[in-house]
Amino acid sequence: MSQSEKSHPAGNVIGDGQVENGGSARVPLLDDAAAGLYEADASLDPLSRAALIGVSRALASVGRAFVCLDPHFRVLHASIMLEKLLGPGTALRVRGRPVEELLGEDLFGRNGPLRRALQAGDRREGWRATLQFEGAGPRLVSITVAPLKHGPPDICDPRIAHLIMMRPAEEEPSGGGGPTFFSGVVASSPAVLQIFRLIENLEQSEATILITGETGTGKEVIARAIHEHSPRRHAAFVAVNCGALPAELLDSELFGHVRGAFTGAVRDRLGRFEVASDGTLFLDEIADIAPHLQVKLLRVLQEHTFARVGENQSRTTNARIIAATNQDLRQAMTEGRFREDLYYRLRVVPLKIPPLRSRPEDIQPLANHLLARFSQQHGLFKRLSPQAMRVFLDHSWPGNVRELANAIEYAVAVSKSETILPEDLPAGILEGAMVHLPSPKPAPGIGEPVANAAPPAARNLDAAHLRAELDTHHWRRDATAHALGISRTTLWRLMREHKLA
Ligand SMILES: Nc1ncnc2c1ncn2[C@@H]1O[C@H](COP(=O)(O)OP(=O)(O)O)[C@@H](O)[C@H]1O
Ligand SMILES: [Mg+2]
Repeated sequence: MSQSEKSHPAGNVIGDGQVENGGSARVPLLDDAAAGLYEADASLDPLSRAALIGVSRALASVGRAFVCLDPHFRVLHASIMLEKLLGPGTALRVRGRPVEELLGEDLFGRNGPLRRALQAGDRREGWRATLQFEGAGPRLVSITVAPLKHGPPDICDPRIAHLIMMRPAEEEPSGGGGPTFFSGVVASSPAVLQIFRLIENLEQSEATILITGETGTGKEVIARAIHEHSPRRHAAFVAVNCGALPAELLDSELFGHVRGAFTGAVRDRLGRFEVASDGTLFLDEIADIAPHLQVKLLRVLQEHTFARVGENQSRTTNARIIAATNQDLRQAMTEGRFREDLYYRLRVVPLKIPPLRSRPEDIQPLANHLLARFSQQHGLFKRLSPQAMRVFLDHSWPGNVRELANAIEYAVAVSKSETILPEDLPAGILEGAMVHLPSPKPAPGIGEPVANAAPPAARNLDAAHLRAELDTHHWRRDATAHALGISRTTLWRLMREHKLA
């Protein structure tokens, strides 16, 4: 879709590509970075305007776009560099819009971490987000946000409360250290950032993709992100769980049926392949699909044709296919459960999502992100205590991100205070926390390592002493831990070390 000069507010843009600058000088639209801030703004005095133009010019020369926000997180000004990222006209059109329309609810929604940081007067550097606006984008950008602290005398627009600086993420290949928010998928680990790069490289592609990974690793969210970054993003994303339906129902679900095709088929029904014809069809749990449907599927992939159940007429579909499985398809092939030709048709682009335990850098950003999401759903504000974060970092996550999401939803529901403590976490997670894995160094201020923080005396407890303490407290771990001044997690670890568990 072209986002060309279609909706400039009347009167601001002049036919020859020039923009009226507050009734004074005319500035060329794209060449002069200053033009971003030009536009007649009755509330801006000439001095403020000149200051903004100067800043805009200086930052453009180092390749940065910026957006100024009012205290309600609405855009006051956007520099013309934004148009390099999103196309002509956007710097004007974003004015007055809530920032989350540009950079997403995940970051700037009510509980979004960047909104929270700005509200607290903090700066955040080197995060990455998908920038998009009214169908333009998405574009992965590195962003830094800061509250603007005015000092007398005010030389700029005094309404500006916050500043966002951005540049294309590819200009900062190593990342700035902060997490990346990629169309709903959050990550910090090199393995997943690599997947984001692959998705960007595939942006113009229609290739069939096979996503593999254990259950809960994020196969579906990645599939959605691929769709969002494809030329089909304005059409439907249709997901079908091939493992959830018996073969006959799956056949009609995928390909549709005609009236009378089977008992209960009282009218014609459109299959998912037709619904997703201009969009993306996500076939989850593809390994479970029955042999005769594998044949039908192979034909769609090769020829784009199929027939509805109960009909001979051949129909066409243009759906782009993304398939996913948590099974080993090679194994299924050797066992004769999965067709080899279908396998190779599906894995034109293979994409493997590693389990969460092998990318511990993602635990903390995911935990914070999921917490923000669930607390917002419940109209609450919650934070994770460093001890709870430690438990998360120590857990091995056999159920991957889904298990983490469930643990956080549970904790949000049961915790009584604003801060989630280890005791608010599901029992399985607390005990799982004893399995030691290489854990990443938590970011400053978040997730202090509780085990190391245990008093040295407690860490050196011998078995007899520990047993005595446990006896005193009737083997109640809460009470014993409390008495020893250590966390329940540390106590559990010591009990295991001393074979008292
Ligand atoms: N990287 C991620 N960022 C944000 N949410 C994620 C991520 N990975 C998984 N999730 C969340 O975890 C849950 C499971 O993800 P899903 O894509 O359904 O996994 P899978 O299809 O591999 O079983 C979903 O609630 C999803 O939103
Ligand atoms: Mg799934």
